[in-house]
Amino acid sequence: MISDKLDDLQDYPFWRLNALIRDIPLPDGETEAVPMWIGEPKHGVPEIVREALASNFDGYGIYPPIEGTPGLRRTMTSWLNHRYSLPSSLIDPDRSMLPVQGTREGLFMIALAAVPRASGDKAPVALMPNPFYQPYKGGAVAAGAEPVFLSCTADTGFLPDLDAIPADTLARTAIFYLCSPANPQGTTADLAYYHKAVDLAREHGFLLVSDECYTEIYDRDPPPGVLQICAEDGDLSNVVCFHSLSKRSSVPGLRHGFVAGDPDFLAAFLRLRKYAAASSSMASYAAAEVLWSDEEHVQENRRLYREKIDIAESILGNRFSFFRPPGGFFLWLDVGDGIEAAKALWGQAAVKVLPGAYLAEDLPDGSNEAAAYIRVALVSDLETTRTGLTRLADTLS
Ligand SMILES: Cc1ncc(COP(=O)(O)O)c(C=O)c1O
Repeated sequence: MISDKLDDLQDYPFWRLNALIRDIPLPDGETEAVPMWIGEPKHGVPEIVREALASNFDGYGIYPPIEGTPGLRRTMTSWLNHRYSLPSSLIDPDRSMLPVQGTREGLFMIALAAVPRASGDKAPVALMPNPFYQPYKGGAVAAGAEPVFLSCTADTGFLPDLDAIPADTLARTAIFYLCSPANPQGTTADLAYYHKAVDLAREHGFLLVSDECYTEIYDRDPPPGVLQICAEDGDLSNVVCFHSLSKRSSVPGLRHGFVAGDPDFLAAFLRLRKYAAASSSMASYAAAEVLWSDEEHVQENRRLYREKIDIAESILGNRFSFFRPPGGFFLWLDVGDGIEAAKALWGQAAVKVLPGAYLAEDLPDGSNEAAAYIRVALVSDLETTRTGLTRLADTLS
């Protein structure tokens, strides 16, 4: 009655974390922990959303189209063109652009459209980084692919080493999830890296899925995107990228993002989505359009994240292998034993962080390349963040 495929999925990291700390009381006098475990921006919902939701109230009376409205698709395309200086001929808003109801569901579902039936005795491969955003594996498993995890350690610059993927693995690959800025490490791929990944996708006939959800949160330079490679010769084949409003605009509850790229693939993806995707609401689409059109609130978000990274740098210095993440809002700290550190921080300091091991797949020998790390989300206001980081440094030093 229950698919044995589910045996391949361990409990979601946040469940595991809650189980880990369930029996550990908070320190005396503390009623709640500083939330540094989940990537849920807490800068506040931009006011411009309120009016868009209210004035589209009547839209709740109709079934919204899965493919969004023409206006929304045009607005998302304009943002993309502006953000990456793309030629306006590259993305046809009606063929190369689709909204998703939060990129999580899109990243999961895309594997169902990309992974073919197994031919022969070996399943198609889904490549993904390790550690990784968990729905990549969820999608791969649901689609019947064999997830293959690519080490992303300090030695590889926290991105998969594209030259180290065995030829027989590439030959079986159906989909490759790439994440830049990387969750959890914040590393960013440069154009040469994207170039190599796109070349691999076309040479071996797989879909490259570039998850760029953190691309608007950056420390110094805006991270490049995979579509800049496609713009070089106007070819979108084998490539899609995902973008989200959750981090950019601090609206994780709006559940809005998009996927853009290969029009032939997206036509097939839309065919599948008509059967299965949860559609958004007309009010959410209207709110999304307003947010993609505005940069002011995004600049303010970036300023706040930078200030929090400054605070982290001043408190942590070079302890715990601290480095300023070029993108995103997580710190990836080497604390020796991430699980023990998470327990200590909860029980001794009322700070909730995520053990790195929960984001990474165990290696065949049972070891875990992220075991030494914790992921620390800088999502709260400045003072809460300062409090959390001070307690962290005091407790773990
Ligand atoms: C790497 C990465 N991709 C995608 C997402 C999904 O974001 P959303 O579904 O809110 O768009 C997240 C959320 O934490 C993430 O960390």
